[in-house]
Amino acid sequence: MASQLQPQRGSPPVINFGRLSKDQATRVLAVQDIARACRDQGCFQVVNHGISMSVMKEALEVALEFFALPKEHKEKFASLDIQQPIRYDTSSRDGISVARSFLKHYANPLEDWVQFWPVDPPAYRKKMGVYAVEIQRVSMQIMEAILQGLGLGPSYMQEKLENGVQFLALNKYPQFAHRGDDVDVGLGSHSDYGFITILLQSSTGLEVMHHDDVTWTAIPAISGALHVHVGDNLEVLSNGQLKSLVHRAILNPDEPRISISSIHGLSMDEKVRCAKELISEQHPEMYRGSSFQDFLDFLLSNTNSYKRFVESLKIGRDE
Ligand code: OGA
Ligand code: NI
Repeated sequence: MASQLQPQRGSPPVINFGRLSKDQATRVLAVQDIARACRDQGCFQVVNHGISMSVMKEALEVALEFFALPKEHKEKFASLDIQQPIRYDTSSRDGISVARSFLKHYANPLEDWVQFWPVDPPAYRKKMGVYAVEIQRVSMQIMEAILQGLGLGPSYMQEKLENGVQFLALNKYPQFAHRGDDVDVGLGSHSDYGFITILLQSSTGLEVMHHDDVTWTAIPAISGALHVHVGDNLEVLSNGQLKSLVHRAILNPDEPRISISSIHGLSMDEKVRCAKELISEQHPEMYRGSSFQDFLDFLLSNTNSYKRFVESLKIGRDE
């Protein structure tokens, strides 16, 4: 059996995804590893996930090509309206971007959203489209394993997840310039909405803060690996058994950095609530339900004093 790397506390485990499609006993062990990683660390990396190196490399390359375009091209997508299907920005209007440019757009189902994507660079739609579809497929396998690990069964909410939101954020960070006392943060501390985020990074820069920790842990950029972390929706669905992971991006001292994060949720207006199966007398319902749209409204309301949106959903907490 493929050996499971046993990491130091801090560094998330690397899960060999091939084990999920082996015999039942091997799958059960892999599901347990994923469940433990989600519970104890809020994240893990996956290798052997079936997405080829060339697909990942081409997605990063075409993202880099987009950011290298003249400003006028990119600013066609600039908008203050976070309801837009595609948005480019460079500033810190969102309250957490310190030094990053981003392009954000929806991706699932591809045929609905690709019309909004850039036509420049010419290969953008094709290459990012292939990557998005592959990531959506892997996200389903990851969710199945996580849901199985929670005791809800691998096909729990399957259809809703298959038809749910996939939100891609392409991030570009400058190289850290070591000027005076400049901070080296590119994207400040936050958690992601959605069940899981799958992140591909061109070089190191992602840092996470495990639940019981007060220090940052750097996530190594392992060639071919995808980083996965728990989002606010999973904290709610699991009724607090899992916690959404606080993370940030710091600037790489050696090179500019690109990352592509893919956030997976239900459809825009579908509320995610605590699973009935995980509510009991000993474990009463801890969170109010919320939809992706509620999250966007929360961002717009501008009274955003919570580090994690999910904090605002806790039942019994003063509003
Ligand atoms: C994000 C994010 C981290 C990174 O896009 O939500 O946290 O490393 N990105 O770019
Ligand atoms: Ni994030």
